Amino acid sequence: MTKKNILILSGDGIGTEVCQQVEKIIELFNKNNVETSFNVSHGLIGGIAYDEAGSPLPDETLEMAKKSDAVLLGAVGGHKWESLDIAFRPESGLLKIRKELDLFANLRPAIVYKELVSASSLKQELVEDLDLMIIRELTGGIYFGEPKGIKDLGNGILEGHNTMRYNSNEIERIARVAFDVAKKRGNKLCSVDKANVLVTTELWRNTVQKIGDNEYKDVDLSHMYVDNAAMQLVRQPKQFDVMLTTNLFGDILSDCAAMLTGSLGMLPSASLGSKDSNICSALYEPVHGSAPDIAGKNIANPIATILSFSMMLRYSFENDLLATNIENSIKSVLAKNYRTADIFKEGNILVGTNEMGDLIVNELKNII
Ligand code: IPM
Ligand code: MG
Repeated sequence: MTKKNILILSGDGIGTEVCQQVEKIIELFNKNNVETSFNVSHGLIGGIAYDEAGSPLPDETLEMAKKSDAVLLGAVGGHKWESLDIAFRPESGLLKIRKELDLFANLRPAIVYKELVSASSLKQELVEDLDLMIIRELTGGIYFGEPKGIKDLGNGILEGHNTMRYNSNEIERIARVAFDVAKKRGNKLCSVDKANVLVTTELWRNTVQKIGDNEYKDVDLSHMYVDNAAMQLVRQPKQFDVMLTTNLFGDILSDCAAMLTGSLGMLPSASLGSKDSNICSALYEPVHGSAPDIAGKNIANPIATILSFSMMLRYSFENDLLATNIENSIKSVLAKNYRTADIFKEGNILVGTNEMGDLIVNELKNII
């Protein structure tokens, strides 16, 4: 029996209720002796951490995260904390944990479940069977580049500045992750940049090309400008298999890809660091945010978080079987027409967050 330590950081808004659904699954696994036993602990992050401990990422949380085998995160943020100084905002806690654990590779798969084709805002034939993977660089670029700040130019004029920076090492390591993922899928990689305008991404393009030429000749590599990529994602999304891009572009394109699947409530993600790291280097979180307007109302879709846990099983614990079991259970529940509000269409059965969690657990009970 192997033992895995999972740190759950529910964070703010709907984070708590969606993470609770994963805990039900973990409980079921622990009761059913599935060869791995999961030990769950909890920590504070985001706005709630600021309220209770004065920091959006308390040191204690970071220490717990470093020692765990994997972290599951709900969501951070909310109107309540929007006017705080940027260093104290919930989002800073998330950025800091990504940076401190060196989680430079963010994998965001967008898969259209056949039961949900009609939930997409695009025509059925455009999204049917869509299965694409966005690889977003997560610890560099304009999100972290120095210098940054707001300067007083005098005469009542303020000037804000951020810096987009990438060095070739940072580009090479994320490119290798993307090529490796592409090799396990359709052997096709599209790298997205703005090399016609931004020199940083000209370096990005040249470096990705160099890694392709030297180490992955068998992978079909192409490059695309980000404005075109945004357009192509809604025009002909199935042309893509694996997309590789910078932190900022990946943030935007992954929300766009999420909507192809019908709802932001369906998209999981994995943020991974180096396999040789001696601290925890894997954090799993839904792509959606804290959705404060619907928090605590039992209407949020827990599937993105449950799928994030299934990514954890696959990528951190190499347990494809349990991951597939979870994914199949979700498909069965959807096939029986149960839907949370975000993916509900006439003729479906509307269920809440808790009920969706219970339905998935019940399906799982029949399989494991
Ligand atoms: C995401 C989110 C975060 C980001 C925010 C909450 C800081 O939008 O994970 O996509 O911009 O990376
Ligand atoms: Mg985002």
